[in-house]
Order: sequence, then structure tokens, then C-alpha cells
Amino acid sequence: MNPTRRQVLGGLAASSAVLALPARAVGTTALTAQVADMQLLPQEYGRTTIWGFGGTMPGPEIRVAQVSRVQRHLINDLPQATSIHWHGIRIDNAMDGASGLTQDAVEPGAAFDYDFIAPDAGTYWYHAHNRSFEQVARGLYGALIVEEPSPPDVDAEDVLVLDDWLVDPATGQIDSAFESPHDRSHAGRNGNFIATNGVSGLAKTARKNERRRLRIINAANARLFQLRLEGLDGWVVALDGMPLSQPKKIGKSFILGPAQRADVFVDVTADVGSSAYLLAILDGEAWPQVRYDVTGQSAKAKRNMPKPLPENSHQRVKLEGATSLSLNMEGGAMGSLRAATFNGERLNFRQLVREGQFWAFNGAIGTMNNPPLAKLSQGENVRLRIHNDTAFPHAMHLHGMHFHEVTEDGRLGPLRDTTLLFGDQTREIAFVADNPGQWLLHCHMLSHAASGMMTRIEVA
Ligand code: C2O
Ligand code: CU
Repeated sequence: MNPTRRQVLGGLAASSAVLALPARAVGTTALTAQVADMQLLPQEYGRTTIWGFGGTMPGPEIRVAQVSRVQRHLINDLPQATSIHWHGIRIDNAMDGASGLTQDAVEPGAAFDYDFIAPDAGTYWYHAHNRSFEQVARGLYGALIVEEPSPPDVDAEDVLVLDDWLVDPATGQIDSAFESPHDRSHAGRNGNFIATNGVSGLAKTARKNERRRLRIINAANARLFQLRLEGLDGWVVALDGMPLSQPKKIGKSFILGPAQRADVFVDVTADVGSSAYLLAILDGEAWPQVRYDVTGQSAKAKRNMPKPLPENSHQRVKLEGATSLSLNMEGGAMGSLRAATFNGERLNFRQLVREGQFWAFNGAIGTMNNPPLAKLSQGENVRLRIHNDTAFPHAMHLHGMHFHEVTEDGRLGPLRDTTLLFGDQTREIAFVADNPGQWLLHCHMLSHAASGMMTRIEVA
């Protein structure tokens, strides 16, 4: 057990520091956001200062059974206000952690109690949601795993949090140009150092013919990870936590946008004495995200294709008669945006640049204070057509509810919480607005969200 500051100070009952700490339920686990340092880069660069939950990056893994309660007492030991968003959880609005919307950011020295039920099994994550373009880039995130009632037929499981870091090679420290106008107006903040679970060249051992479950989380601020398997046969069994109705065999490669997750079952086909890999393709070159050294043979024979995971119960969306909404995304470098409203005022592009704003949703720079994209009544069926009228990919995330991607031929595709759109692409999503509250809809390229790619949906 980590002694919390409250417990440590408990002996000094009369001190004002003790009294100043907010009360919390006995037994709630503390989750402290703090400054720490770690050996992120190769030894010769020295240690890197990070911000991490529990002082680690990724933060402590949270693992619970489906439909159980999660309680965390956030203590903010950072020099900056923060909050925690539980990404992909169909949560009570008050616990969503969207600072400035569902709660005030938690000031340095203050605390906040998160308390919610995790209704769906799957792979989720949690991350800071105040100045997230800076705080996530500094390391404030961790895996949130909700287990199925009966475990699937696998021999091992790996939680793999992928990230890229923008570091200054001269100092070994995180580059602090978090508000770089170039990153904001282009593809976002992309790093120059790639790691898995904070380790570059992560290595594990495996056995030939065993089946492993990889829970892959893209925690990067902006990078699309194009992933490839070598010496492994794989199937995607779930996306963004939600099981696919039919596992999908992985061909050449697959892509995870920022904030997206994939549960992948892999069978080890590499021979004993050799290695298998999860590779990231970066600028045409393959980099190992994980290396599996095959040290022996599994007692089991190679299995058949995996069965689907049990479905999470969702209300069925009805496309017919659904409310139609549309969202046009504009702006960025090489875009056609000439002017947009910003906080109620019409500004030309030059004025917008001065404000550090580069993107618009339906003609307005998105902020928390704008009117919502839609006011929906609880239970309303919605189809939202998103057009990416920009030159860059964007990963659009809806808080609080999962949606279906609608396929080209008009059928309901996989349930997701984050959908990736390439430049000039249009995607329709559909969902039942069954969770009351104020829900953000924003690009998960976090510098984009901070420079206009943000709106919200109100469900009452
Ligand atoms: Cu994962 Cu509003 O974010
Ligand atoms: Cu974006």
C-alpha cells in the first residue's frame, strides 16, 4: 500500500495541513498526480522529468471486474491544475473529468474524489483532462482494464501503452513548446522517441503456439501508430474496448489513431530460439514496439480462430428516423479557412493565428463556452455526419457514449469511442443518446483540441 499524504500526516492530527485536505471515503485508493523522474531515454541521456500518476509513466494500472465500482482520490501535487478523464467509460457525467465542463480543474494541493461504475468490459485508459496537450505529453495517463466475467481462452496478456515523446536530445528533457503554432496548425505534436509502457525496445518471453491477448493503447498526443505483426498470427477482437461481432484477421498492418485501443489475440508462430515482434511502421521503417523471445514450446497445439468476446449490452441504434447532425471540420495549414467566429466575434485568419486558433467546427472555433453542437433528449437516436475538410487526419472522440461507425453501404460498423478520419474523408457515426449530461466531442490530437477542434453534445 502506498501511504497517502493524509496517512503520513495523520500523526500530526492538530496540524492545519491535515484539516485542509478534503474528506474522502475510508479505503479509497489515492492517485497522486506528481512530478517525478524516470529513465525514459537510453542511459547516456540521463533521467527525464515527467508528470505521472503515482509518479510513474504509465500510471498505475487500474483493473476491475465488469460492473464494479472504481474509486480514486486524486491528489494534485503538480504545479498546475489537473483532472482525470476515464476515456471510453460510459460514466456518470459528474465523474467524466472534463475540467471546465463537468468539474473545475483541481488546483495544486487540492484533491477530488472520483467514484463510478465501469459498465463495459474492455480496454480503456485514463488521462489528465486539463491542458491535456501538455499534461498527457508529460506522462499523465494509465491503463484502465475492465475484465470480462469469464476470462477468454488465452495463455498470457500484455497491456501495451504506446507513446511517442518529444524530447530535446541535448538535455534529455521533454520539449516544452506545448503550444507550438506549427504543431497546432499541422499534424499535432509528434515525438522523436517511441516507447511502450515507457520502455524503448520492450522485451518479453513467449512460447511457440501460445495465444496472448495484447491490449494496445495509443496514448500519443497526435501520432497514428501503424502496427505490424511478425512471427505472430493475429486477430483484432475488440476496438476501443468494444468486442467485434467477428474477430478480424490482421493482414499486413493495422492503424491506431490517438486514444484508440485494440484488443488483439496473437498466436506465436515464430520458432523456438527466434523472436516475434509487434512493430510500428514509422516513415517506412519498422521499429519494434515489443519483442517476444520464443524460449520454448507451449504444451498446447495451435488453436483455431478465436471466438468473439461476449458483447457489452448496448441499446440498439435505429438509423431510420434518427436525428441527423453534421459537423464540418476546417482549418489548419494548407486548409481553406479564411475566417471563423471565436468567442462570438468574427475573426479573419491572421487574427485567429494571433489567438493561436487554427481549426473550426461548422464555422466556429470550438471552445468549451460555445453553444453545444446539439441538444438531444435522452434516448434519441442520432446520426452524425463528420466531414474532414482539412489536409490532416483527425481522431474524433465522443465522451460518455460509444457510437457505431456507419459503413459505406449504410450498415452499423464497429462500436467505438474515437473515430479516425483522414484528410478530405467523411464518416457517419450513429448512437443512442442514452447518457444524460454534457459530453465533449473533440479531436484527440490534443493540440488540435486546444486550437479549435472541440464541441459538446448535451443530453437531457
Ligand atoms: Cu481521451 Cu476528452 O479525451
Ligand atoms: Cu485533429
